[in-house]
Amino acid sequence: MVKAVEIRPLRRDDDRNAFSCGQADLDRFFAHYAGQNQFKLHLAVTYVAVVFGRIVGFATVAASSLERASIPSARLRRRLPGYPLPVLRLARLGVDTRAQGLGIGKALLRHVLALAIEQRDKLGCVGVVTDAKSGAVRFYEALGFMPLEGAREGLLAGEPLPMFLGIQTIASTMPR
Ligand SMILES: CC(C)(COP(=O)(O)OP(=O)(O)OC[C@H]1O[C@@H](n2cnc3c(N)ncnc32)[C@H](O)[C@@H]1OP(=O)(O)O)[C@@H](O)C(=O)NCCC(=O)NCCS
Repeated sequence: MVKAVEIRPLRRDDDRNAFSCGQADLDRFFAHYAGQNQFKLHLAVTYVAVVFGRIVGFATVAASSLERASIPSARLRRRLPGYPLPVLRLARLGVDTRAQGLGIGKALLRHVLALAIEQRDKLGCVGVVTDAKSGAVRFYEALGFMPLEGAREGLLAGEPLPMFLGIQTIASTMPR
């Protein structure tokens, strides 16, 4: 794990053009849309991981909601009401190819989970959802994410898999 990593909100003057995580759609989003979505349209907030002044990763989050029927736990579904449930959406996650495998992705995800706890305490939040690219499903599974109820059915090969991590599980992994 890189020791000198700082995770902070994206700034208007951050240089986003040198970044590449190896997925063209994610690189295009980060270079062209992350700024306007945050500073002009207020759709989402992007957090960047910075090492020695260079952006090596980013995670974009937005407030969202989820239908009870999609929660991948029968026990939890029974306890929750039938109207849209507040969740934090991890909309995008990418680590620069030169910095992959060093714990940056996990550190960004931990930061997002801490934001979910903050949302729980201030606004309400039953968990984190994300659409996992096929190559990243195991990365999320290792952190406890589960496919949404019924999400695998009808999914075409290579399509992102919608996944969920409940707030109780998140809280149990947080340092006290
Ligand atoms: C997937 C991604 C975000 C992971 O970030 P990273 O910084 O390379 O991952 P980390 O170094 O934090 O790895 C954390 C753990 O996940 C594992 N891991 C990393 N990438 C993985 C993958 N694609 N599949 C399965 N496990 C993975 C690591 O081995 C490590 O395991 P450990 O904790 O047991 O040592 C990064 O590789 C990336 O940006 N990929 C391209 C874009 C992408 O797929 N984004 C996700 C979109 S949903």
